[in-house]
Amino acid sequence: MPRLKNKVALITGAAQGIGLGIAQAFINEGASVILTDINDELGKEQADKLGEHASYIHLDVCDEQKWIDTIAAVVKEHGKLDILVNNAGITGFDMDAGPQDPEHSSLDAWQRVHRTNLDGTFLGCKHAIAAMRPAGVGSIINMSSRSGVVGIPRAGAYASSKAAIRNHTKTVALYCAEEGLQIRCNSIQPAAILTPMWDATIGTGDDREANIAKFAAGTPMNRFGTVEEVAAIAVYLASDESGYTTGTDINLDGGMLAGVSTPPVPKNT
Ligand SMILES: NC(=O)c1ccc[n+]([C@@H]2O[C@H](COP(=O)([O-])OP(=O)(O)OC[C@H]3O[C@@H](n4cnc5c(N)ncnc54)[C@H](O)[C@@H]3O)[C@@H](O)[C@H]2O)c1
Repeated sequence: MPRLKNKVALITGAAQGIGLGIAQAFINEGASVILTDINDELGKEQADKLGEHASYIHLDVCDEQKWIDTIAAVVKEHGKLDILVNNAGITGFDMDAGPQDPEHSSLDAWQRVHRTNLDGTFLGCKHAIAAMRPAGVGSIINMSSRSGVVGIPRAGAYASSKAAIRNHTKTVALYCAEEGLQIRCNSIQPAAILTPMWDATIGTGDDREANIAKFAAGTPMNRFGTVEEVAAIAVYLASDESGYTTGTDINLDGGMLAGVSTPPVPKNT
């Protein structure tokens, strides 16, 4: 029995990377999936490839009116919204706005990252709750990050926005419960999932493989994670199997948050 049979899911930032991987996994589990993104050409192409249970709508997550229109279109077409994945996010590394460290970041760069990551997630939660309220059930999944749990010296806005997403997830979960709704809200904290987001860090040239190996060597499991591994957690959180799970955050980081990178070691080992 497919785990998401008859469910309707909207995913933001789904033209590539983690969002696309989640779209594929949801379809494999029987859901109808609305992929959304600002990269319309790629988004449409990917939705077409995913087949008859996938469709594409342009949605810039910073634009509240577009959220209203998109969710209205989904409810008109499918009669309901069961699952929202607030996945769209940017690091700020690919902007022409300069450094992202706390001493040199411009206010504009700081605000642009927060607008996409945090405001986008806030708007998604706000309008999904309204759409899910008539049925009284639903699952909202917010993409936070390992960077929302620890400090990241060269990506201050990204880390701050992801920490706020993690916290807002808990607020949404408790609010919905207080309202007597079975609308659940949980977050995922991935780290180092090999997607196009990493191109700005590891490059796309001859040294790419060496950079991947160098970064991986600094992680407990000595490798990057995959979009399929993130999608598997998203399927669980979207499905009725996680019906009593709300306000929680799931780390998916190959052990990075399990301890410190320089633990004390007995002298004789
Ligand atoms: N890849 C990782 O290692 C990693 C780790 C932790 C968290 N995450 C988070 O997972 C999510 C997906 O990351 P990814 O690695 O797949 O990134 P990605 O850059 O490969 O894909 C992000 C997608 O979001 C879209 N997008 C950007 N701004 C948008 C906007 N304003 N409105 C709608 N869509 C927009 C892009 O067009 C792109 O298709 C992000 O929130 C990211 O912060 C990723």
